[in-house]
Amino acid sequence: MKIVLVLLIFSQMASADLMIYTDRVTARLQPIADQFTALTGEKVQILELAYPQIKERLIEEKENSPADLVFVKDLIYLNEMTKLNWFQKFNSDIITSSVPENLRQSNNLWTAISMRARILIYNSSLVNPAEIENYQDLAEDKWAGRICLRSGTHPYNQALVSSFVANYGADRTQKMLTAILANLAAEPLSGDSAVINAVATGQCDVGIVNHYYLAPLVDANPAFIVKPLFLNQKTTGVHVNGSGMGIYRYSKQNKLATQFLELMMTDEAQLTFSKAHYDYPVKLGLSPSSMINQWGPFKADTMSWEKLGDYFEQALKIISDVQYR
Ligand SMILES: [Fe+2]
Repeated sequence: MKIVLVLLIFSQMASADLMIYTDRVTARLQPIADQFTALTGEKVQILELAYPQIKERLIEEKENSPADLVFVKDLIYLNEMTKLNWFQKFNSDIITSSVPENLRQSNNLWTAISMRARILIYNSSLVNPAEIENYQDLAEDKWAGRICLRSGTHPYNQALVSSFVANYGADRTQKMLTAILANLAAEPLSGDSAVINAVATGQCDVGIVNHYYLAPLVDANPAFIVKPLFLNQKTTGVHVNGSGMGIYRYSKQNKLATQFLELMMTDEAQLTFSKAHYDYPVKLGLSPSSMINQWGPFKADTMSWEKLGDYFEQALKIISDVQYR
């Protein structure tokens, strides 16, 4: 009787689904989920919610949550969930040998899945790209009335400012940001696409956006007037951020969830997924298969994403102090 019961429990566990909570687009993850099912026989369920809703749900569900994996689009979110103690360790040589150390949590609580660069964009009829090399150049007087930025309340810019604090210290960052804000052509805009539009129409000469907002526009029209420039190539490298995945603290499917993480690291999954987003694969030695490959390799800031999280509170304070709304 006991044996039957144990077998029953094991068979139930074996047929249990793998549940992924994500703020990423389900349709882009589905092909990899389908491949996982084909390989393992395990069904994958994807629950797509904005990050604040994922948080709300996990706070409510705690150990009763069906979540096995959490997949979010920003290093700020990954670090916040780490602080909340919401991840359990994975143990995988495949992951540690595939992903650069600075893009993984040091205790194997999460790993990056895809990467993006926060680049300078410029109107090629108004700006000579030789005019600028570094983020900090935007603080110079010559850029007065020429810059457009997205709001400082958005995680993309909060992560960028965290990287400034990490690289230059709080005082320099505060001065630099004050000067950059004084050079704005317009109040901070609502989104990266709005920044591209403002640069395209000449409302401003330059802006800062995630590269994948520009990529599809250039893909559709190679003569698009807005061009990309990777900053800090002779110094720290351009600021990079990205999506990452970890196993939810209360998941009982560590082995299966680890297998899913490993599947995300195959060349095929890395290229398929990064192509769907015009993102960069994080796997060592892989180049993107989409149009962005034409933009060539670039030097990325090697500061670890985990360490950047340590500068987040300071960044928020500076953003608030300089009234970067
Ligand atoms: Fe985005």
